[in-house]
Amino acid sequence: MIDHILNTAEKLEPIARGKEISTLLAGKVLMLLFFEPSTRTRMSFETAMIRLGGSVMNLGSVEASSIAKGETLADTIRVVEGYADAIVLRHPKEGSARMASEFSSVPVINGGDGAGHHPTQTFLDLYTISRESHLEGAKIALAGDLKYGRTVHSLCYALSLYGAEITMVSPKELRMPAEIISDLKRLDIKVKQTDSIEEVIGDVDVLYVTRIQKERFPDPDEYHKVATSLQITPELLENARPQLKIMHPLPRINEIDPRVDYTPHACYYRQSFYGVPVRMALLSLVLGALE
Ligand code: NCD
Repeated sequence: MIDHILNTAEKLEPIARGKEISTLLAGKVLMLLFFEPSTRTRMSFETAMIRLGGSVMNLGSVEASSIAKGETLADTIRVVEGYADAIVLRHPKEGSARMASEFSSVPVINGGDGAGHHPTQTFLDLYTISRESHLEGAKIALAGDLKYGRTVHSLCYALSLYGAEITMVSPKELRMPAEIISDLKRLDIKVKQTDSIEEVIGDVDVLYVTRIQKERFPDPDEYHKVATSLQITPELLENARPQLKIMHPLPRINEIDPRVDYTPHACYYRQSFYGVPVRMALLSLVLGALE
């Protein structure tokens, strides 16, 4: 199924680039319910829908909606399913999208559930890896906040399907949750854990960097202890393989030095563009416009 989404995205890429016009989703309405900040996920879903001739409705700011009056998520979903053909939900609580899907007769797409998962980001990450490097048997380092970062939680499960060798790089306070590590081991995936990026930089095809998720720390002092624990600099990259690709779901804070943007390793801006064809594929399949 993942391969099918990625192949469909590739076919739709000329439309995503505005080189071809499409009416594939004409008459369809997508509802965006974002209870947390977002730039790329929200706007690439909007762009994807518009490029395919569909329309987008947006809850707008939570403060300006009835949620501010105390409405439950279940009630909001029950109402919104009557307005739209599909819903994208981003919410601070883990499991919220799954819960919402139980109250909705239209498809609910998880646009990020707290520190849980971010599956549509994973599709575009896989697409990026297949375009910029190679998916099968890739040697990949996931670096940064592996505890609270939802993109890496989803990504490592998907990578396990492609026989990846995964190295987890983080300070010990921000390690990948133990249950995910044991799931990966059960799937026979080679997983290493370290706190030293220097140790692994010469040995990987892909370095996937994440932001320290400040908003998820219960104690701000704990955040400040690790806020600058990871820094990718051109000096560090002197020891990298020439073909190394550096990815980041963005937003970037200070974990990648801006000088790295000008090296051939950086592919995070292309990665964010790939969100458009991948979400076009997902919407077309979910809405039954493509098989
Ligand atoms: C990520 C997210 O929201 O989890 N952003 C995104 O969707 N591209 C990463 C992050 O916020 O650090």
